[in-house]
Amino acid sequence: MIVIGGSSSRDLAKELAMIMDCKCILASSTRFPDGECYTRIEGESLNDDVVIVQNTYPDTSIIEMLLIQDAAKRMGAKSITLVIPYFGYARQDRIFKPGEPESAKVMARHLSIACDRVFTVDIHKEEVLKNFKCPAKDLKASGAIAEYFADKGIDIVLAPDAGAADRAKDVGKRMGVPYDYLEKVRLSGTEVKIAPAKMDCNGKNVLIVDDIIATGGTILAATVQLKEAGANSVSVACTHGVFTGDAIQRLTGGNIDALLCCNTLENKLSNISVASTVAEELKKKMKKRRLRK
Ligand code: R5P
Repeated sequence: MIVIGGSSSRDLAKELAMIMDCKCILASSTRFPDGECYTRIEGESLNDDVVIVQNTYPDTSIIEMLLIQDAAKRMGAKSITLVIPYFGYARQDRIFKPGEPESAKVMARHLSIACDRVFTVDIHKEEVLKNFKCPAKDLKASGAIAEYFADKGIDIVLAPDAGAADRAKDVGKRMGVPYDYLEKVRLSGTEVKIAPAKMDCNGKNVLIVDDIIATGGTILAATVQLKEAGANSVSVACTHGVFTGDAIQRLTGGNIDALLCCNTLENKLSNISVASTVAEELKKKMKKRRLRK
């Protein structure tokens, strides 16, 4: 097996290759003077099963991912597995207003140009996976998040909205602590209203888990509610730290006691690694193939 890291996921690709005990090639991707993407996989041929790790965010990463798939195919990859740690456009998964596209589906339909299977991590809506032209599976970061917070004295795990309730359940169960979700109403792209928690949070160390933090509006509103309800501490963990604009400063300046995200997007807070989660799945696939032979 050979792991190829695109420019959005270099550290994750290296860690994954280390766990899989295989070669890692970082695609050398640059921009032509006109802004177009140039990418190259070092070497003569691949002649092995290849795993490409690359996000679909920001937009420039999408083009790079398509070009890396083509290069890998041409270099004789025996099979290509595409690992998309953060699947951008996932939140436009339906038509909210007439005239809009179903962006998540469009992306899925067009991304798998030369690959045999796709793995995403905590994709916003799993239904989107049906649109890939090859088998696709979503991997969960809950195990990595639960492991990270296992010894941090967390009493309750909460999701900031009903959509993330299963995530809170999964993390809470793994940690052996109660879990629940908050009721959220979105007022605008940056503002949300969150109702008080049903659970008694007074004096408790609460962990909020979400799939994405973008503007930080959701997490800030949830934290205010929990602190008003007397929470002793509020820690926050998300899978994908998109952190638009000054979100990191706004989130770290006040009520939040700890803020972490996974390395699906690499930034200064991405200290929770999903490499083992991805590696586990790749090992399962390899074992199945060996058994079939
Ligand atoms: C919403 O359904 C998602 O799970 C996140 O809660 C949301 O995308 C976070 O966005 P923001 O940080 O902008 O509130």
